[in-house]
Amino acid sequence: MTELILPARAARIDIAPNARANDVLLSLRDVHLSYVDTPVLKGIDLAVRRGEAVSIIGPSGSGKSTILRCINGLIAPQRGEIHVDGIDVRAQKTDPQRIALRKRIGFVFQQYNLFPHLSVLENLTIAPMRVLGRSRAEAESDAHALLAKVRLADKADAHPGALSGGQQQRVAIARTLAMRPDLILFDEVTSALDPETVGEVLNVIGELADEGQTCVLVTHEMRFAEDISDEVFFTEGGVIVEHGRAAQIFGNPSNDRTRLFLQRARGEDRAGRVRRRA
Ligand SMILES: Nc1ncnc2c1ncn2[C@@H]1O[C@H](COP(=O)(O)OP(=O)(O)O)[C@@H](O)[C@H]1O
Ligand SMILES: [Mg+2]
Repeated sequence: MTELILPARAARIDIAPNARANDVLLSLRDVHLSYVDTPVLKGIDLAVRRGEAVSIIGPSGSGKSTILRCINGLIAPQRGEIHVDGIDVRAQKTDPQRIALRKRIGFVFQQYNLFPHLSVLENLTIAPMRVLGRSRAEAESDAHALLAKVRLADKADAHPGALSGGQQQRVAIARTLAMRPDLILFDEVTSALDPETVGEVLNVIGELADEGQTCVLVTHEMRFAEDISDEVFFTEGGVIVEHGRAAQIFGNPSNDRTRLFLQRARGEDRAGRVRRRA
């Protein structure tokens, strides 16, 4: 559990200039996926409107990461439909098609995977220059603005190894933003961090959500999910057990499984807070 202290907002960057409010950007319909004989997703339905922040919560092994990996085409479900901004994800079978899709979908993982031999600035400019064809001047000016946004303006010349985990994760978020994705998927991006650095990463993600960056978050930070999500999906055993507005899911879940999960998660939150104070 991390207290969210939202500091004064950094310079605003227009993330989604063509955003049209309230239309569906991402949809999954009856998505099924098995590994060999083991069913992992058993009919997932999910929709995210442009500008929304949606969280997926649920026990470990319930299929949350698998859902995200299906959305950006990293793995292919056997059945169902996935659309991102009208693109049929399952129909993108050639490399150029998949690259085009992944340009539009950012993915931030628990492991930040920065290039260790490149400076922070170079980590941010390499893909925009090579993949989007930006000039160096343009990519660098954008990178500096994004570093200011994630409050790392003074770290442009540092190498990732000199930064804390929370700082590296903020660089990874800036790197994702540099591609101007329509949609960002966050998969437990604070799980590997020292507790002291979790808040600074959640603050950055919270600001992006406030600014209308469409995102899907898998997170164990329940207070955070409650604070920033428009809609919350609770998964267990490869199905969506319940979904609804954040206030309803956290305040008055209608399913006993959701209720039990939240009770346990909140118990762990409290234990974590005590441990951190000690
Ligand atoms: N490559 C794989 N091969 C076989 N089973 C897998 C593979 N990846 C994930 N699984 C299984 O799929 C289920 C869902 O995994 P995952 O989506 O990672 O869950 P979560 O992110 O909710 O913890 C788990 O039971 C996991 O063991
Ligand atoms: Mg996972």
